[in-house]
Amino acid sequence: MAIQWFPGHMHLTKKAISERIKEIDVVIELLDARLPGSSANPMLAELTEGKPALKVLNKQDLADPTRTPLWLDYYNSQPGTRAIGLDASMSTPAKALIEACHVLAPTRGSMVKPMRVLICGIPNVGKSTLINTLTGKRATKTGDEAGVTKIEQRIVLADGFYLFDTPGMLWPRIIVAKSGYNLAASGAIGRNAFNEEEVALELLDYLIPNYPALLKARYKVELPAGTTDEQLLEEIGRKRGAVLSKGRINLQKAAEIVIYEFRQSTLGRITLETPTEFQSWMEAGQKLDAERQVKKDDIELKRLIKLKKVPRPAKVDRRGE
Ligand code: G4P
Repeated sequence: MAIQWFPGHMHLTKKAISERIKEIDVVIELLDARLPGSSANPMLAELTEGKPALKVLNKQDLADPTRTPLWLDYYNSQPGTRAIGLDASMSTPAKALIEACHVLAPTRGSMVKPMRVLICGIPNVGKSTLINTLTGKRATKTGDEAGVTKIEQRIVLADGFYLFDTPGMLWPRIIVAKSGYNLAASGAIGRNAFNEEEVALELLDYLIPNYPALLKARYKVELPAGTTDEQLLEEIGRKRGAVLSKGRINLQKAAEIVIYEFRQSTLGRITLETPTEFQSWMEAGQKLDAERQVKKDDIELKRLIKLKKVPRPAKVDRRGE
């Protein structure tokens, strides 16, 4: 899926993180609990030089409560990593965050050796909301205006515990196609950068086998075996009165309804990926990406040969064989 955003902004954020990272003890990555794998920044480990990591599965109130523990176990089993679930209804999230950071960096957290924590996450993951709750005030979003990418001054969470905010950041290339769709469905990507119908169809394609009861209850539809995403989107459009002249279904309107109701969780508490699924998507994405790279390298080599910038590969003489 073609998704466009502002790589310039991202480069500045990367630079700001690289400059700050040496003085950081723990990196908190806020993930969307409905799509933990897809909302995780693949560049972050490299950018943060493998610092201890706290994965916060945020908006867990919207996610499937049977799947969040799978993701927590998955992250908690990784070296140097802890994971907790959070949502905006928690009035005192600081306690859980501070405790988890102390487990990750036990020697830090005193006035002499303060705990210095960097907080990162994709746009719309709920970072400003969390920081507002932590600080008890209405803070402005970091980097909301174009070009504002410097890491904010420290926020004092407790004695000897400092938090540094970063602007919400996406990465330049999403190699897992499904992740692009899940990010778009969640609201992380601006609506001008994707096709709603395509995103709604992908969403329904996943929901039909994984959450059929929620679909039936919300849209009052039957889902006989073999129902396709296209058929279901049409049916939803019909049921909701998204009908054009001559009875044609307004698929754009139907798609908007599906995406909106997923985001608001009026459809129910849904998680769009399990750790096992995400790993298999990632493997397939990496394989495809490697094949694409080989093709690209081949085209580039042919171009350079044409420009006589590199010698033509020697032909093998097989006449004597
Ligand atoms: P960001 O800084 O990471 O970009 O995200 P921000 O805090 O602005 O939150 C993005 C949206 O997600 C907001 O909704 C916010 O209310 C909502 N949100 C944040 N945390 C949670 C949570 O734990 N659970 C749920 N259900 N929602 C959460 P909005 O519709 O964009 O704005 P508004 O309605 O709050 O004005």
